[in-house]
Amino acid sequence: MANKTIAFIGTGNMSYAIIGGMVKSGFDPSQIIATNRNQTKLDKVAADFGVQTTTDNLAAIARADVIVLSVKPQMMGDLCESIVNADIQYQDKLFVSVAAGLTVTRLRDMLKHPVKMVRCMPNTPSLFGKGVSGLYADAINEDEKVFIEQVFSSTGIAIWLNEERKINDIIAVTGSSPAYFFLFMESIETKAIELGFTAEQARQLVEQTALGAAMMAAGQHDISIAQLRANVTSKGGTTNAAIQSYQANGLDKLTSMAMDACIARAIEMEQEL
Ligand SMILES: NC(=O)c1ccc[n+]([C@@H]2O[C@H](COP(=O)([O-])OP(=O)(O)OC[C@H]3O[C@@H](n4cnc5c(N)ncnc54)[C@H](OP(=O)(O)O)[C@@H]3O)[C@@H](O)[C@H]2O)c1
Repeated sequence: MANKTIAFIGTGNMSYAIIGGMVKSGFDPSQIIATNRNQTKLDKVAADFGVQTTTDNLAAIARADVIVLSVKPQMMGDLCESIVNADIQYQDKLFVSVAAGLTVTRLRDMLKHPVKMVRCMPNTPSLFGKGVSGLYADAINEDEKVFIEQVFSSTGIAIWLNEERKINDIIAVTGSSPAYFFLFMESIETKAIELGFTAEQARQLVEQTALGAAMMAAGQHDISIAQLRANVTSKGGTTNAAIQSYQANGLDKLTSMAMDACIARAIEMEQEL
């Protein structure tokens, strides 16, 4: 698959992040095609990464070996309808969908062809090369699997899932979780302001601490996260008082309930879309 052409249908935030990761990690931009309804976004991705662009989805699909469908889940039906009757050799193409809530079966129904399909669930830190992408494949060969893994690991970490339902689990663990961290940062920021720090100071203090803590975890894989926490929690000390308060008030249970709600919503979306 090394010399294959890949087309991104819908070039918003997610395609921009993946294309950026691919080009920065050495993919040939001349083998990447970006399409969009909006020319301004195409001008930006062409200027930033030197990829080919077009507003003609069918032309891009006809030329590509791998097609990444990257529009909002609610727009996928219209998109598929607009490409489904074209004179394209669908059996030779590999389709990738990054949309939540649309199963392989549903996507094949929409495309009206039993296409080779990968579902991918990326997350927003992909924009900075720090993303996680959960991948589930149906009916693809080893070469294609390697290619897809190269594409998505160019924006961070790519992990294969052996069952499609795990896509909903990865949404709870990595897809939605940047927002959980932001929510926690927001809580600390709010309290810091209450304690008298300016909004600017509070933002800076929270941001730097979150970054420092993430770097401590990322740089010491041999130490468990529980141990990293224990290492900065002296018995009878101030941090210990805060941690005990969190634990007594059920932080683990709250997190578990939040992640279950996330999975339940993903399952519900599968019925709605
Ligand atoms: N962003 C995330 O964190 C994230 C994480 C995981 C998965 N995803 C999934 O990734 C997909 C894209 O999300 P996004 O955040 O990148 O959305 P986005 O910024 O709205 O990008 C989608 C792009 O597709 C374009 N578009 C819509 N219909 C089209 C069509 N028929 N032909 C060509 N272009 C079309 C839109 O154009 P207009 O500008 O004209 O609307 C827009 O530029 C979604 O399915 C989303 O669920 C996103």
